Amino acid sequence: MDEKEREQTLVLIKPDALKNSLTGYVLSQLSEVHTGLRLAGAKIVNVSHMLAMEHYAEHKGKVFFSSLIDFITGVLHYPDQPWKRRVVAFVYQGEGAVKKMREVVGPTNPHVARETKPGCIRSMGTLVPIKDSGGNVIGERMDNLIHASATIEEAEREVKLWFRPNDIPPLMRAYPVAASDDFFCLKEDRLCTADEHGGFCFIAPGANVWRSDLDSLRLLKKGVPAPCSLESVVAKYLINEK
Ligand code: RTP
Ligand code: MG
Repeated sequence: MDEKEREQTLVLIKPDALKNSLTGYVLSQLSEVHTGLRLAGAKIVNVSHMLAMEHYAEHKGKVFFSSLIDFITGVLHYPDQPWKRRVVAFVYQGEGAVKKMREVVGPTNPHVARETKPGCIRSMGTLVPIKDSGGNVIGERMDNLIHASATIEEAEREVKLWFRPNDIPPLMRAYPVAASDDFFCLKEDRLCTADEHGGFCFIAPGANVWRSDLDSLRLLKKGVPAPCSLESVVAKYLINEK
C-alpha cells in the first residue's frame, strides 16, 4: 500500500446516534461505495471519564466542556442504564481519509448542517440548551451523532488514543509499532515497571505498542516530561476494563 492510501481517521458513533438507532444509517453513509474508505478497526467502548477528558482535551475550560464529557460518556442519554453507555469507534483508511470523512459528517452544529449541507450525517442531529444551577441558559450542547478527526495530526493522536496496534490488522497499520521489553503497570495512578501486587499491568514484555507511547513511557519512568501524558497512553488500555 502506498503512503497516501495509508491515511487514517477516527470515527465515533456517539451515544445520541446509538439511542436513536441510527448506527446502521450512519455506517451505510460511510461505506466504501460513498467514501472510498476502508474499515481498518472497530470496537464498542464504554467511554471512561479519563478517555473522554483525553479525547476532548482541547476543549477543557469551555462553557460546554462538562456537558460534552457527560454526553460522550453516555451519562446524558442513559442516566439510569449505565450498561447502555457506549460509543462505537472506527478507524477508516484511504487516500484523503480525514477530509473525505469530515465532508460526509458535515458541520459541527446540526442547525448549520441542515441549512448548509442537507443530507450530511450531522443534519440529523439536534441542539440542547445548557443551563446553570439557576436555570439560565449559558450555552448549547450539540448532539451531532458522530465524531471524525479534524486534521491528519489529530487523527494520529486519536487513533492511538482509542486503538492498540493489535486492534488493527498488521498490513493496515499507519503508525510505527514496537515490542516492549518491559512491564508497565499502574498502581494508584502511579507508573511502575514491575508487575506489582494490586497494580494493573497494561503492557507486558513482548507486547506490541505504539512506538510513540513506548518512548513516552520510558521518559515518564525516568521522571522526565514526555510528549504523551500517562493518561493518554493508559486510557486505551483501560477501555472496557472493570
Ligand atoms: P467532534 O470533535 O466531536 O468531531 O466535533 P468537531 O470537530 O466538528 O467540533 P469541535 O470544535 O472539535 O467540538 C467538539 C464537540 O464539542 C461540542 N461543541 N459545542 N456549544 C458549542 O459552541 C460547541 N462547540 C463544540 C460539539 O458536540 C462538538 O462535536
Ligand atoms: Mg473536533
